[in-house]
Amino acid sequence: MKYAQTRQVMAIAPVIPVVVVPDARSGVEIARALVAGGIGVIEVTLRTEAGLAAIDAIANEVDDICVGAGTVWSAEQAERAIDAGAEFMVSPGIADEVNAVAQTRDIAYLPGAQTVSEIAHLKRRGVTATKLFPASVVGGPAAIKAFASVFPDLVFCPTGGIKEDTAADYLALDCVPCVGGSWLVPAAAIAASDWASVQAAAERGSALSGA
Ligand code: 3PG
Repeated sequence: MKYAQTRQVMAIAPVIPVVVVPDARSGVEIARALVAGGIGVIEVTLRTEAGLAAIDAIANEVDDICVGAGTVWSAEQAERAIDAGAEFMVSPGIADEVNAVAQTRDIAYLPGAQTVSEIAHLKRRGVTATKLFPASVVGGPAAIKAFASVFPDLVFCPTGGIKEDTAADYLALDCVPCVGGSWLVPAAAIAASDWASVQAAAERGSALSGA
């Protein structure tokens, strides 16, 4: 799904797995396990050196997955991520230069916000779907309900501190088509190459819905 709109990316699965990869091969294995578990979307963060190479490898080797780049802060990172094959980008907060690249290159983008003023800042720049990070710290579902009352036309992807057992509380909100989270692919599972547990978490994650 090259050149998908942000809301299309958000509709792929109830959860966007956020992944920190130590190397490109692990990225491919994780992506395959997620697809096998029914989740066709992955956000590979650029927090490790291997992030870009993993995006490249996943884009080239794994079918049926929409691969995105996370923790994108600069225009240069954004350009490199798109060149590597990223189909969407995510920032934990406001990164106007990344938004500019996303608009120029017509790629789905999910910038983050924490406050009403930040959401308003993004809205003025054409953004209608935002990540809300760190969701559990800024007030959880109750905070999102309050944000939605003043931004009825926006949708949110809450991320940060969300786990399998709290995701449904967020997904119950009409303005939350999906959540983001790293719980499906913990560092321990990667270290142990435990792809079966990633697949099992994806199977449970793909079945999540509003409480
Ligand atoms: C992110 O980049 O979105 C966060 O690291 C994900 O938050 P979590 O690890 O609390 O799920």
